[in-house]
Amino acid sequence: SGGGMLVKPYVYLTRKMPPAIVEKLERECRVSMWEKEEEPVPAEVLAREIEKADGIYCTVSDPIPRELIEKAARLKIISTMAVGYNNIDVDAAAEKNILVAHTPGVLTETTADLTFALLMAAARRLPEGIDTIRNDEWGAWVPFFLTGQDIHHSRLGIIGMGRIGEAVARRGTGFRMDIVYHNRSRKPEAERDIGARYVELDELLETSDFVCVTAPYTKETHHIIDKDALHKMKESAILVNSSRGGTVDEDALYDALKHGSIRGAGLDVFENEPIRSDHPLLSLPNVTALPHIGSASEKTRWKMAHMAADHLLQAFRGEEPDHVVVK
Ligand code: DGY
Repeated sequence: SGGGMLVKPYVYLTRKMPPAIVEKLERECRVSMWEKEEEPVPAEVLAREIEKADGIYCTVSDPIPRELIEKAARLKIISTMAVGYNNIDVDAAAEKNILVAHTPGVLTETTADLTFALLMAAARRLPEGIDTIRNDEWGAWVPFFLTGQDIHHSRLGIIGMGRIGEAVARRGTGFRMDIVYHNRSRKPEAERDIGARYVELDELLETSDFVCVTAPYTKETHHIIDKDALHKMKESAILVNSSRGGTVDEDALYDALKHGSIRGAGLDVFENEPIRSDHPLLSLPNVTALPHIGSASEKTRWKMAHMAADHLLQAFRGEEPDHVVVK
């Protein structure tokens, strides 16, 4: 009970993290974590932890709404292992002087790779091709079997020209794509360096062969791809979403795909994740679906994991964490 004896800050991790990350935190903190890998941390457990924690280490699928943040008694920082932070009520955190930190930059190129992979897989119908072989349905050479859409020299429309949108656009230039974008502000550097052209959303929807959503999920981008938007798209167009499921109205997308008002969709994200195999979109052959793996390369996930831990340590040392969310 000596004066000046400091109690280490307490950190709660909402996921089982590898020893290297836990040990890094344990050097300066008391750490506990949700150990079950099959299920996310229940809200009531997180509520109890948030009450006593100095720091929370979370992921994209842990909702941290106002009600939860209001329970915090001593919380200094919420550090998410993601660039997107729509799962956290940043305003509620700011009102209580709780920092929110995220991991921009390190996952940009990895997520752009996956976005482009999804675009290509949907365009050239890779899932159907793979199923054909696995189901032993590869028969005679049929002239128009599994014919898809050309990627090269097509028009790529990017909604949300941030770091990831630009990185996707750069990949498009290698395929000699004509690149248009829509964003809340013009991006003169992207225009100059990549040759991307700014267009209004309607023009992007009406003229693009690929409509790619790489915008953060906000009130403004909620269902930015709705029934109307889908209706404006070309019948040969393919929608690619690697942002957040909420940017697309899934019921409207189902109808558009089912009735051929667009050709296909490549989706890495869904409104309610995880989706199950009975999700209506999965009944359609022209949907290429992935389980939210945009940033999932080994190297990038390690960078994200370390960065999120570093942000906590910085905050406890009284430093400004490197990547604090400012709205
Ligand atoms: C992000 O970083 O926002 C992804 O969705 C999770 O990697």
